[in-house]
Amino acid sequence: MNSKIVVAHRGASGYLPEHTMEAKAMAFAMNPDFIEQDLVLSKDDVPVVIHDIYLDDVTDVAIKFSERKREDGRYYVIDFTFEELQQLNVSERFNPKTGEQFYPNRFPKGKGNFKLHSLSQEIELIQGLNKSTGKNIGIYPEIKNPEFHHKKGKDIAKITLEVLSAYGYTSKNDNCIFQCFDAKELERVRKELNSDLFLVQLIEFPEETKQLKHFSTYADGIGPWYKQIIDKKENDHWKFTTLVEDAHKLNLKVHAYTFRADQLGDFSSFEEHVNTLLFDAKVDGCFTDFPDKVIKILNR
Ligand code: G3P
Ligand code: CA
Repeated sequence: MNSKIVVAHRGASGYLPEHTMEAKAMAFAMNPDFIEQDLVLSKDDVPVVIHDIYLDDVTDVAIKFSERKREDGRYYVIDFTFEELQQLNVSERFNPKTGEQFYPNRFPKGKGNFKLHSLSQEIELIQGLNKSTGKNIGIYPEIKNPEFHHKKGKDIAKITLEVLSAYGYTSKNDNCIFQCFDAKELERVRKELNSDLFLVQLIEFPEETKQLKHFSTYADGIGPWYKQIIDKKENDHWKFTTLVEDAHKLNLKVHAYTFRADQLGDFSSFEEHVNTLLFDAKVDGCFTDFPDKVIKILNR
């Protein structure tokens, strides 16, 4: 049993289009600790599992609903009802301007018959598989861009917490970790919406790491980009920033994103990537597009 937490980032997204039910079922079979759900609200307030507020880089919306393009050239999840969203086909991620596939060696763009789904539908898949397999794999929902939703009169945090509660996720014991990049909103989740869930404050920019003490007043962990943890390589050894140590002193767990076997950055192998962060830098867990590969390395 590994003590390190493995989160299937957007499902087994290294192998199947991100956030499809198929990618989630495949991830489940790989035995991660958690499967991730990024969430955006539909026009009729359904939390939809999708990474961006836009539709045009992972679906065929530009073909099926060409007239629904906004002036900025984009198609927005929030402009479509859940029933309309379910008519779209989901594809491997691509650049909507050039049509080029984002990760060229992954599942072929535009192939297959994949659909969008709601948070409830995904929870029913994971809870159903937990029952039929006897496993206990958790969920790791992230509310995307709460400020954008507030401006449209929508409270994505409140709606998501209600769905989670309806499926039995209300406390730190319930195998659910709730994450958000927006610090003000995550603080609100704890202090105004009174959630007892395990909360992870995501960190996008290095200057946000100065806020650790404040984060520890409402969050249980942080989710930094892994590059905020590594400094440089000297004499074949990686040096690290003090981020993990500082977080641990404040009793915050550290779940770093995103480990990709097909995007190694400065590492020479995926094994070096995983071992350097999880063991040398003492990170508590990671988000990965390749949960099977991380688990294999951890089991060695
Ligand atoms: O939520 C943490 C991890 O998923 C990285 O962020 O941009 O892929 O949602 P993102
Ligand atoms: Ca995420």
